[in-house]
Amino acid sequence: MKHRKLIRTVAILAVVIGAGALFTWYQFFREEPQPQWITGDPEMRFKYGSIGGERDAGIPYWIFYVMPRMFPEKIPGPNGFASFGFAWEQGQELPIGFVKKTIGFERVGNNCAICHTASYRRSDDANPTFVTAGPGHAFNLEAMFRFLVDCAKDPRFNSDNLMHEIDLVTDLSWIDSAIYRFVLIPITRKRLLERESQFQWIYRHDFPEWGRGRDDAMNLTKYFLVGSPMDDSIGPTDMPSIWNLKKYDREGTTLNWAGDSHDEYSVIIDSALGLLGAAPKSNDEFLQEVQWLQDYLSAKAPPKYPFAIDEVRAASGKAVFDRECARCHASDLTGARMELRGVDTDPERLWTWKKAHAVAANNKVKEFDIDRPGLVEEDLIGYNPPFLDGIWLRAPYLHNGSVPTLRDLLKPPADRPALFWRGYDVYDPTNVGFVSAADTRAQEVGTQHDVADRSNGNGGHLFGTTLPEADKDLLVEYLKTL
Ligand code: HEC
Ligand code: HEC
Repeated sequence: MKHRKLIRTVAILAVVIGAGALFTWYQFFREEPQPQWITGDPEMRFKYGSIGGERDAGIPYWIFYVMPRMFPEKIPGPNGFASFGFAWEQGQELPIGFVKKTIGFERVGNNCAICHTASYRRSDDANPTFVTAGPGHAFNLEAMFRFLVDCAKDPRFNSDNLMHEIDLVTDLSWIDSAIYRFVLIPITRKRLLERESQFQWIYRHDFPEWGRGRDDAMNLTKYFLVGSPMDDSIGPTDMPSIWNLKKYDREGTTLNWAGDSHDEYSVIIDSALGLLGAAPKSNDEFLQEVQWLQDYLSAKAPPKYPFAIDEVRAASGKAVFDRECARCHASDLTGARMELRGVDTDPERLWTWKKAHAVAANNKVKEFDIDRPGLVEEDLIGYNPPFLDGIWLRAPYLHNGSVPTLRDLLKPPADRPALFWRGYDVYDPTNVGFVSAADTRAQEVGTQHDVADRSNGNGGHLFGTTLPEADKDLLVEYLKTL
C-alpha cells in the first residue's frame, strides 16, 4: 500500500517536473526559424538574418519597442529611433541590421548590417538608396550604447512603468505578462547596467565622440573580448565597406585598417563573436553562418557610381593614377602592412592595439574551440594602403574619416576642412563625398568632426596634393569608376 502511494507520488512529481521543464523550454528556449522572406533571399538575410546575437545580447522585443517612447529625451535628435542614423527601409518594422527572432520569447538583436550598410540620396527630398556591405557612415553607435545604458539607469525603468507602456501597445497573455514583469524586465535592466562599467571609456569627456559612422574597434575588442584593463588610448575608425572580400584572397594581404587580422575568415569570426557577446551555442551552426557571410561578401560587387561619368576624361585620369597612386593602391602593397612613415596620417588608432592583445584575443577564441588564423601577433606599424573599390561611397576618407571628400584629400592638409559634419547622406558629386559643410543640413543631422581633437587629425597622405588642378580633375573622374 505504502509502496503504491510512493510510486504515485513519484509519478505525479515526474509529470509536474516534466510539465515545468516543458513550460520553461517553451517560454525561454523554444527556437522558431525566421520567416522565409528573410532566410530565402541573400540580401534580406544579410540585412535582417540572425547570426545568433539575439540569444545572449538581445533585448526582449516589447522592451525594445517601448524604450524610445518612454525615454525620448535620451535620444540624440528629434526623430525618435531614426536619430541614431539607422538605415530604415520603407515598410520594414525594424531598421537594417536588426534581427527579430523567437527564442522562447521574441528577442531583438543585431547583425553585421547595422554597421555595414551605406545609404545615399541624390537630394534632401529624395528617398535613400541602401547599399549592403557598404560603410554605415550615418549610424551613431556610441549614442546607441549610451541610450541603452542611460535608459536602464533611469528609475522609471521598472516593471510597473514598462508593463504600463507595453499594455498600451499589445495584449500579452497573463503568462507572458508575468514573465515580462517578473523575469525579463528585471534581467534586461541588470544586463544593461552591467555594460556601464565595460563602457566607461565612451563617457570620457577628454575623448572625442566617435560620431556617426565610426567606432573604436580595437578598444571594443580589447575590453569586451579580451577583458583587458582600460588604458588611455582612443582610436575611432570609419566603418569600412566589406563588399568584394575576394580581393583579400591574395597572399600577403591583411585586414582591418592597420592590418590587424590575417584573413577575412578570422575577421568575420571575431566580428560575429562581438555581436554574440558569448560563446556560440553550437560551433557547427556558427561556422556555417560565418561561411555563408564570407561567400556572400566575397561575391558582392562594389556599387557603380550613380551619377554621370565623363569616360574620356576618366581614361586620362587613369594615367594620372597609374603615375601617382598605383604603386600603393594597385600593386602587391595594396592591403598589405606598410609603415606609417611616408604616409603620416593620424597615429592614434595604431596605439590602441599591441601584440599582447592579439595573443590574448587569439587565446580567447581558442578557448571557444574555434580554429582560425586570427589576429596578427605583432605590434602595428602603420595603415594598409586600402583597395579603392567603390571608393566613391566610402566617404569621409582615411581610417579616421577625417577628410570629407576625394577633392579634399587631394588638397594639402592645411586646406582640408578643419571642421565638418559626418553622417548626413545627401551626396555631393562635385567633390565626391557627402555634403558635410557648416550651414548645410549636415550640420543639423550630422555629428561634428574637429580635426584638432585627439585621434581626429587630417594630416598626411600628401599624394597628389601638388598636382595641377586639371590633373586632379581627371584623377577624381577616374576614381569614380572604381
Ligand atoms: C559595431 C559595428 C560593426 C559591426 C556590428 C560589424 N563590424 Fe565589421 N568593422 C567595423 C569597423 C569599425 C571595422 C574597421 C575596424 C578597424 O580596422 O579599425 C570593421 C572591419 C571589418 C572588416 C575588415 C574590412 C577590411 O577591408 O579590412 C570586415 C571583413 C568586417 N568588418 C566584417 C564584418 C562582419 C562579417 C560582421 C558581422 C559578423 C561585422 N563586420 C560586424 C564595424 C562593425
Ligand atoms: C605610398 C603609398 C601610397 C600612395 C602613393 C598613395 N596612397 Fe592612398 N593611401 C595609402 C595609405 C597607407 C592609406 C591609408 C591611410 C589611412 O587611412 O590613414 C591610403 C588611403 C587612401 C584613401 C582613403 C581610403 C578610404 O577608404 O578612406 C584614398 C581615397 C587614397 N588613399 C587615394 C590615393 C590616391 C588618389 C593616390 C594618388 C594620388 C594615393 N592614394 C597614393 C597609401 C598610399
